[in-house]
Amino acid sequence: RRALQTAAVPTARAPDFAFAFDIDGVLLRSSDPLPRAHETLSYLQSQRIPFILLTNGGGKHESERVADLSSKLNVPIDTSMLVQSHTPFADMEDLKNQNVMVVGGKEDDCRAVAEAYGFKTVVTPGDILVAYPEIWPFSQQLLPYYKTFTRPLPAPIDPTSPLTSLRIDAVFVYNDPRDWGLDAQIIKDVLLSDRGILGTRSLKNGNTELANRGYQQDGQPTLYFSNPDLLWAAKYHLPRLGQGGFREALEGIWSAITGGEAYGVKLQKVIMGKPHQPTYEFAERRLILHRQFLLDRHDSSLGHLKRVYMVGDNPASDIAGGNNYKSQYGTDWSSILVQTGVYMKGTKPSPQPRKIVGDVWDAVAWAIAQEQ
Ligand code: G3P
Ligand code: MG
Repeated sequence: RRALQTAAVPTARAPDFAFAFDIDGVLLRSSDPLPRAHETLSYLQSQRIPFILLTNGGGKHESERVADLSSKLNVPIDTSMLVQSHTPFADMEDLKNQNVMVVGGKEDDCRAVAEAYGFKTVVTPGDILVAYPEIWPFSQQLLPYYKTFTRPLPAPIDPTSPLTSLRIDAVFVYNDPRDWGLDAQIIKDVLLSDRGILGTRSLKNGNTELANRGYQQDGQPTLYFSNPDLLWAAKYHLPRLGQGGFREALEGIWSAITGGEAYGVKLQKVIMGKPHQPTYEFAERRLILHRQFLLDRHDSSLGHLKRVYMVGDNPASDIAGGNNYKSQYGTDWSSILVQTGVYMKGTKPSPQPRKIVGDVWDAVAWAIAQEQ
């Protein structure tokens, strides 16, 4: 507290710096607030210094997540201050009238998020398993559980052959899959189907077939991942596999079955989330709007942010993203690595952050001292 209080913020002018905070490993460990997270965010709000929360996590709608975060951190957070892994999916208007499959998250939560974003026809791997139990023999014992939250599939295109009558136009992994086997099987079936028609095959027998036939990628569904994290900081004292772990497993299956890029059969995928540029562009736009709202200044006199401090626990996502992001407004993004999450104190982080500190409080104290 002393460090922050001595570093009185220059209040004569609107602060031209702001913060982007990662959540898991910086503010929370799973559902437990980290020490000093509340004090740090409260202090910034008392000084009207703008900040947003930028996470590769998700699984709930932003409105539900901010209510949960406000309660856990005991700080008022609104949706203008939160960017989750799947938040950018809400802007994908061209797919909202298509048949999409949403993968990951707890029970039906991610379908509810997709429908709240405006996606009209959303199916899940659980829906498909309940409709066709034989599609994945190893989750039969979970059928009674799946039946408590899944939905009937959309009406088949051709009632005479329902098994091959569901077309999937795009697959979105919204959050960490809970049943990797089922989800990998169904995604593989969809991506190797004939133009997304479940139950059909574009792969007859092995790689030669694909190579000979010049596997037609066009017209195939695209797979969108929302979070590249191979590891993340949960409640357990060692990092846990994240959505990036599921993607690596799926890529291994894809390569083994199709021969992968060696046979010209590239997995049609888009990977979003930190550290990728589009996610930081989306976050910067949110931060700029939030700063205007916070300072009640909506004209150009406010000027652009000079610097954004990206505070994270994962070098591969938070630090790489903060270091590499190229702001179209000329804003400098400065990465600060904390020792309360994935990064292990005393090891050499790669990539190297602008600064390594103990926790989120130290990060803000150091940043404010830079602004004197
Ligand atoms: O699933 C969440 C995990 O991948 C990391 O989240 O908040 O550290 O970006 P976060
Ligand atoms: Mg983190």
